[in-house]
Amino acid sequence: MQPTLILEDTIYTLDQLKLGSVPQVALAGRSNVGKSSLVNALAGRKKLARTSSTPGKTQSLNFYRVEPWGFYLVDLPGYGYARASKSDREQWAKLINTYLTGTPGLKALAVLLDCRIPPQKLDIDITAYAHSISLPLLPILTKADKCKQRERAEKQKEWATLLGGVRPIISSAESGLGLAAIWEALRRAALG
Ligand code: GTP
Ligand code: MG
Repeated sequence: MQPTLILEDTIYTLDQLKLGSVPQVALAGRSNVGKSSLVNALAGRKKLARTSSTPGKTQSLNFYRVEPWGFYLVDLPGYGYARASKSDREQWAKLINTYLTGTPGLKALAVLLDCRIPPQKLDIDITAYAHSISLPLLPILTKADKCKQRERAEKQKEWATLLGGVRPIISSAESGLGLAAIWEALRRAALG
């Protein structure tokens, strides 16, 4: 059965943020890596989350309730959106970090990684940050439809080495590859 995603909350500022204990998993990754597209693919809907070919589309924390399982999937703004002003970037970083460090219900961070390019500094920074706050990582290699089988396998191996043996799930929001495995990993991370 396909779970249903319902947008329950959209948070722009620190004072709107509620640090809840409902189980949740957040989606992180560089701007444009495909976080919001993955939300849509998981939901089986085209326009639930707004996506764009231009980086910096998502500028809020978006809480999607997953039914019937009752946990949240949280779509975060991308890291490293270079065209935003310094003060905007600092505010988002504060908002995201407060959410990530202060939410009792946060069970894991799903980190999206682009299968077409080598590990980037921002990717490593995100994974190291999760590690530093003892947040379990769920790595996902995205845009697999743009990569040859061999390239995917190489990237998966490279990331597994960097992440101490954790192998990313290979996925594509375009073709649907890996979505069932991602749902299963999300459910297990959120609910144990
Ligand atoms: P921000 O909100 O800026 O952080 O970006 P995001 O990570 O949410 O990326 P978004 O989902 O908006 O997608 C960025 C671009 O990548 C869009 O043009 C998507 O169509 C494209 N894209 C996302 N996932 C895939 C995929 O699996 N395959 C292909 N070919 N394109 C994808
Ligand atoms: Mg987005």
